[in-house]
Amino acid sequence: MPVDRHLPDFPWDTLAQAKAVANSHPDGIVDLSVGTPVDPTPQVVRDALIAAADAPGYPQVWGTPDLREAISAWFARRRNAPGVDPDGVIPTIGSKELVAWLPTILGLGPGDAVSFPEIAYPTYDVGARIAGATPVPAQSTVQFGPRAPKLLWLNTPGNPHGQVLPIDHLAKVVRWARERGVIVASDECYAELDWRDDVDDLTTPSILDERVCGGDHTGLLSVYSMSKQSNMAGYRAAFVAGDPALVKRLVDFRKHAGMMAPWPVQRALLAAVQDDEHVAIQKERYRSRRNTLLGALRESGWRTDHSEAGLYLWATKGQPCRTTVDELAGKGILVAPGDFYGAAASAHVRVALTAPDERIEQAAARLTAD
Ligand SMILES: Cc1ncc(COP(=O)(O)O)c(C=O)c1O
Repeated sequence: MPVDRHLPDFPWDTLAQAKAVANSHPDGIVDLSVGTPVDPTPQVVRDALIAAADAPGYPQVWGTPDLREAISAWFARRRNAPGVDPDGVIPTIGSKELVAWLPTILGLGPGDAVSFPEIAYPTYDVGARIAGATPVPAQSTVQFGPRAPKLLWLNTPGNPHGQVLPIDHLAKVVRWARERGVIVASDECYAELDWRDDVDDLTTPSILDERVCGGDHTGLLSVYSMSKQSNMAGYRAAFVAGDPALVKRLVDFRKHAGMMAPWPVQRALLAAVQDDEHVAIQKERYRSRRNTLLGALRESGWRTDHSEAGLYLWATKGQPCRTTVDELAGKGILVAPGDFYGAAASAHVRVALTAPDERIEQAAARLTAD
């Protein structure tokens, strides 16, 4: 069967009607539906891209040693994960492609299960389908019984709801996976955007954190992206790090398939992982937008769940999400319905913080107007 037959309809197409309504607002749409960054790409990153514009030769699939070492240093500096082997690091063309292709690259197929959270970014499911494997949404490892999946996806902080998985939970999953030979891939691209006041760590816990895995990265992969924290979604700059043996398999496959991050993007990625200052500046922009929107939602009787990290507020009025989407569209505000992320999320909407300050102020004013 051709692969497209296995794939679900693209959910965003179902928002067209609500978008048309929101667009007709006299003061314009406030689009909080997609998590696409809107602030400028930092100068340090652009300069690195421009400086590497002369690129007549092919880039390395694996990434140059200095890039892989810089990513390893970032894990030590920001993620409490010293000892990431630079041989266990590879740049990817954004992380969505890696999420979509990882089951295939790992050789999974019919009869193999790929698991991911019940309420999740849809590409984990898509990746299982592309491979011809069985997608298994599951909230807890006890759901698997005797038949463990071959690959278990975690997403922390989670998209859409912003939940952070604590160290003890991650450690428990790692122990469970090791006993069964399950590969754990943890998608962590919102780790720098942690809004909790009661934690000392610089970022949310990584699967490679020493306190999670005891410094042993066997069977573990951390998937990371520069798109959100560094306003580089247009660059397609991301990486995977962890078990060198697994990464070697990725390198070998990706060489054959021509999956290589462009050279100027690799240099821009290097500049981005070495500079913490622009990330701190961007985090403060999102903090301020978050405070404005959260205040307005609370004032107008909404409840938010989780939302302790990441780029979204996970909000509900205790009614079907599509009703909420339509009501907000009437105010010129577009949000993503929870049902994009799983049937269990049908009473929530996802409100993105990725709009210019003026639009966020507009949204707050419209929310609190009645
Ligand atoms: C959880 C999660 N993983 C991966 C991605 C993909 O990021 P990118 O492909 O831009 O690196 C996103 C983007 O929204 C995401 O929310």
